[in-house]
Amino acid sequence: MGTQRIPGSETARLRHGGGALPLRTGRLILRAPTAADAPAVTALAGTWAIARFTASIPHPLSQQDVQDWIRLAEVRHAEGTGVVLLIGARPADTVMGAMDLRWGGTWPSAEVGYWIGSPFQGRGHASEALAAVIGLAFGPLALEEVFASATPDNAASLRVLAKAGLRPDGRTLVVPAPARGTTWRHDRRALTRAAWTAQTQDTHP
Ligand SMILES: CC(C)(COP(=O)(O)OP(=O)(O)OC[C@H]1O[C@@H](n2cnc3c(N)ncnc32)[C@H](O)[C@@H]1OP(=O)(O)O)[C@@H](O)C(=O)NCCC(=O)NCCS
Repeated sequence: MGTQRIPGSETARLRHGGGALPLRTGRLILRAPTAADAPAVTALAGTWAIARFTASIPHPLSQQDVQDWIRLAEVRHAEGTGVVLLIGARPADTVMGAMDLRWGGTWPSAEVGYWIGSPFQGRGHASEALAAVIGLAFGPLALEEVFASATPDNAASLRVLAKAGLRPDGRTLVVPAPARGTTWRHDRRALTRAAWTAQTQDTHP
């Protein structure tokens, strides 16, 4: 999948999540974070159990780090270079995790990342959120590919990606991991629009 500069004709479509936010699924609401979410995000994402599998969550994690992340989300939404979403439980909107899609340097491909706080894991939340975000990517955002990688010992994440249809594509993804002080090289896993369309038709003939 080639990487191109985002054409001006696409920029309006890509801003603010394609105008499709918040996303709602059966159990979840996925919405842009606000400053008021910082305490909940800091508490949930501030554990090593979450940070160790991620490239960019600092550990320890301060409320200032989270406020910076929320401001970065606002910039990405306004520029049309990504979406950053909090995953909340409906109807109360209890914050459970986060998922983001970035395409600033990779358009029309987008890299997905996510975490679910430990108290909320093991109940299909990441899988449900990823299905919705993939629908956003190939629907309103009209992207061509969603890709990701995970450390080889992250069995839960590899399973989430596999269930969503992201398959190893034979390439290696070099991931700067500034919060871990290293660079990761992992198998790249990807889902193209064509494969998603085919699997969606298989599921709903
Ligand atoms: C990865 C993560 C987001 C998964 O969240 P979740 O809401 O628990 O995920 P789901 O419940 O949707 O799916 C998890 C799947 O992994 C499976 N799984 C969990 N732990 C596993 C393990 N140790 N070995 C094998 N499979 C495992 C679950 O059984 C489930 O699969 P199933 O639906 O076929 O039963 C969560 O564990 C997390 O935040 N981890 C830390 C951060 C992280 O890894 N982020 C991703 C970086 S690539």
